[in-house]
Amino acid sequence: MCCWSVQVVLLGVMILTAVAQDSEEKKKEEEDIGRDGRGPPQNVTVTAGVTSLTVSWYAPDKPPPYYIVNIDNRHQETQRTLVVFNNLQPCTSYDIFSVSVYEGESYLTYDSGRTLDSVPPPPQSCWFDNITSTTMTLYWQDVDFACPIISHNISLSWDVLWSDDVGSDITNTTITGDYITLLGIPPYTNVTAQVAAVTDVGYGPSTSCWNVTSQDVPGPVVITNITWFEQSLYVTWSPPEEENGVILEYSINIMNEDDTEIVTVEGTTNEAVITDLQQCVSYDITVEAATEAGWGPPSDVKNIFICETYNNMNIQDE
Ligand SMILES: *[C@@H]1O[C@H](CO)[C@@H](O)[C@H](O)[C@H]1NC(C)=O
Ligand SMILES: *[C@@H]1O[C@H](CO)[C@@H](O)[C@H](O)[C@H]1NC(C)=O
Ligand SMILES: *[C@@H]1O[C@H](CO)[C@@H](O)[C@H](O)[C@H]1NC(C)=O
Ligand SMILES: *[C@@H]1O[C@H](CO)[C@@H](O)[C@H](O)[C@H]1NC(C)=O
Ligand SMILES: *[C@@H]1O[C@H](CO)[C@@H](O)[C@H](O)[C@H]1NC(C)=O
Ligand SMILES: *[C@@H]1O[C@H](CO)[C@@H](O)[C@H](O)[C@H]1NC(C)=O
Ligand SMILES: *[C@@H]1O[C@H](CO)[C@@H](O)[C@H](O)[C@H]1NC(C)=O
Repeated sequence: MCCWSVQVVLLGVMILTAVAQDSEEKKKEEEDIGRDGRGPPQNVTVTAGVTSLTVSWYAPDKPPPYYIVNIDNRHQETQRTLVVFNNLQPCTSYDIFSVSVYEGESYLTYDSGRTLDSVPPPPQSCWFDNITSTTMTLYWQDVDFACPIISHNISLSWDVLWSDDVGSDITNTTITGDYITLLGIPPYTNVTAQVAAVTDVGYGPSTSCWNVTSQDVPGPVVITNITWFEQSLYVTWSPPEEENGVILEYSINIMNEDDTEIVTVEGTTNEAVITDLQQCVSYDITVEAATEAGWGPPSDVKNIFICETYNNMNIQDE
């Protein structure tokens, strides 16, 4: 029985929806108290929360057995004069139909209510793309949200992975765009972004993502020492000031007039031994480093000349 009557009332709500839009008609209905004091809910008040609307009213002179209030195709039946609708969208206007249900007839009144503005939820995701050794584009995707998003708060921090350099920055985008391009980042730097959407009432929680700029070729190596023993040379160097990535290997180039000998060692090593050199020959020596991006420029040239006969070695910069 209860459900049959609810359906009848809801049908009435649908039919009356169009009519209720007309404010003249609405006024007339509000005043329309039946002969024996029957009528729609009186002086309906709507109190808005972010995701809730509280609807309260006064009973007509002759209170009905119960009321039905309908918002967003959901209805609540009550014998009291107050109902709360939860789980609504923020920043949204809702039509509210309040009905006094009597035996055999019902009286309806129409109102509207708007939920309050809210801070936005965190963006669904963020990510980096279009990555070079000095630039990256940061993209993000907002969730569908009823309140207008007016900007984004983007906080960036970075860690240059081949040095102790770290830093941070905060940027507001003035538009609701969904990417920014970051320029002038050092190679092989881990950049972490926190992206928060902003509505009229403030900043929502942020979503975080990170990525690393590409490696670049390293800067020049500095040879620190060359010593010799019999026909062998012992060469040491310090890593490039600008490593620009992970040093994979070093190349030691030993050149005389006739040919070039190349010795390579692992990137974790800063020394090499070169054997079987010829006596009394002038050699030019350079060292260079490589990352996955390729070989960097050679170090300054060191010239050596070993003549054991004279128990003599000359090293000089060229
Ligand atoms: C309902 O509103 C009318 C007009 O604003 C007012 O005269 C009346 O006193 C109110 N009724 C109650 C019960 O507050
Ligand atoms: C970094 O970006 C590249 C695409 O540019 C992607 O393939 C990779 O998965 C990203 N790494 C991380 C940690 O998100
Ligand atoms: C990729 O980055 C360059 C800057 O190096 C920028 O000019 C270009 O617009 C970016 N492309 C995309 C699709 O974001
Ligand atoms: C912008 O975001 C950063 C990190 O998420 C936060 O520390 C900062 O307070 C935010 N700015 C404002 C004005 O809320
Ligand atoms: C970002 O916007 C907030 C609030 O409007 C402001 O306090 C802050 O200074 C802005 N930050 C930058 C870097 O523009
Ligand atoms: C980059 O930084 C984030 C934290 O900000 C960290 O979780 C991640 O492991 C780092 N990635 C690399 C390759 O260092
Ligand atoms: C080069 O190495 C030798 C032997 O280890 C050492 O005696 C000498 O002081 C070093 N020279 C420099 C400039 O470091």
